[in-house]
Amino acid sequence: MDYEKEELNYLLHTYKRTYVNFVDAKGAKLYDEEGKEYIDFMSGIAVNSVGYKHPALVKAVSSAIDGVHHISNLFYIDSQVQAAKKIQELCGMDIRVFFGNSGAEANDGAIKIARKHGETAFKTKKYKVITIKNSFHGRTITTLKATAQDRFHDFFGPYPDGFVYAENIEDAIAKIDDHTAAVMLEPIQAEGGVAAFDKAELKKLRAATKEKGALLIFDEIQSGVFRSGEFLASQVYEIEPDVFTLAKGLAGGVPIGAVCTTLKDIFVPGDHGSTFGGNPLSTKAAVAVLGVLEDEYKSGRLKAAIDRFDANLAAVVADFPDLFEKRVGLGLLRGLKAKSEDIMQKTISEGFKEGVIVIKSAQNTVRFLPSITITIDEIDEGFKRLRAALIRL
Ligand SMILES: Cc1ncc(COP(=O)(O)O)c(C=O)c1O
Repeated sequence: MDYEKEELNYLLHTYKRTYVNFVDAKGAKLYDEEGKEYIDFMSGIAVNSVGYKHPALVKAVSSAIDGVHHISNLFYIDSQVQAAKKIQELCGMDIRVFFGNSGAEANDGAIKIARKHGETAFKTKKYKVITIKNSFHGRTITTLKATAQDRFHDFFGPYPDGFVYAENIEDAIAKIDDHTAAVMLEPIQAEGGVAAFDKAELKKLRAATKEKGALLIFDEIQSGVFRSGEFLASQVYEIEPDVFTLAKGLAGGVPIGAVCTTLKDIFVPGDHGSTFGGNPLSTKAAVAVLGVLEDEYKSGRLKAAIDRFDANLAAVVADFPDLFEKRVGLGLLRGLKAKSEDIMQKTISEGFKEGVIVIKSAQNTVRFLPSITITIDEIDEGFKRLRAALIRL
């Protein structure tokens, strides 16, 4: 079947897709309808944190769907409380959590928190939100505007006011004024080239925001949920933001988003809400996923996977000096900076032919986001296939 033609009969044309139909999966392996196997180094863009068919996730989702899988937020939801309790425990901060359905929605919540704080806690209204070049914060009208590149802003205006763009951290600090409600950034710019910020710079930003009464919001939608090697990238940097957002890997593929804040009393009933957000289906999945990932972390398996991944990346850079400049990123949010866009594209397409799935990021970077539960054998097999592709480039 011509899948591309078929889908355009029905779907709005929003994605540039690869037309392969995956029909089965297990662990970090995907299978298409011809039975071809792929090592998945992408995990649904950091979503399938426990891979495919993980027994704990299967059990949690099955038990939810076989019980009260959705109930309105007008009633007590025990798994919502358990998921929030686990997030609080894992981040080690005194926070409260609100659950929504996606990353963009979580970031919208973070901006609402900053605006309400800015409106109510000071004599002068603070409303500006500073974001940073090469960011990505989502696709709603507000989070598009929060995303600092002009190319995201064609066609959809007028946008909400009050977003200020900074070139870098130093510039963000310089731009904080009496009306700044928050500085918002991804500690590792995942779409923007898998670029991890410098610890000393982030520490300076933390100090400056505190001093000037602006909140610090960390968008941990891609870097969070153990992807950095710790539960949060904030913990790698030893920084406590006032607000952080999670989504993607939090429930292993069941849609979820979370905004978490130390401003525990910022909202009162009526300020914020969601029909689906935090329902038993997604929060039971989140509790199961966080349990599995905590075990990966505590057992040392995550560290071993990160070390093996890093060693493989280093070896690729050493063995293919004409193709790649360096390896970038942290934990299992990694990249290979290619020497040209063409090399990046061909690495992805030829890798796919060999049966390994990687994706692009900005600045000619090939991006790697395997599941957090990926095994050493799966890592080595994926790199074997990648190397078979790179030899042809
Ligand atoms: C850092 C970051 N923030 C926000 C988002 C938006 O998340 P969602 O697509 O779930 O709305 C993404 C998605 O790629 C992201 O990587």
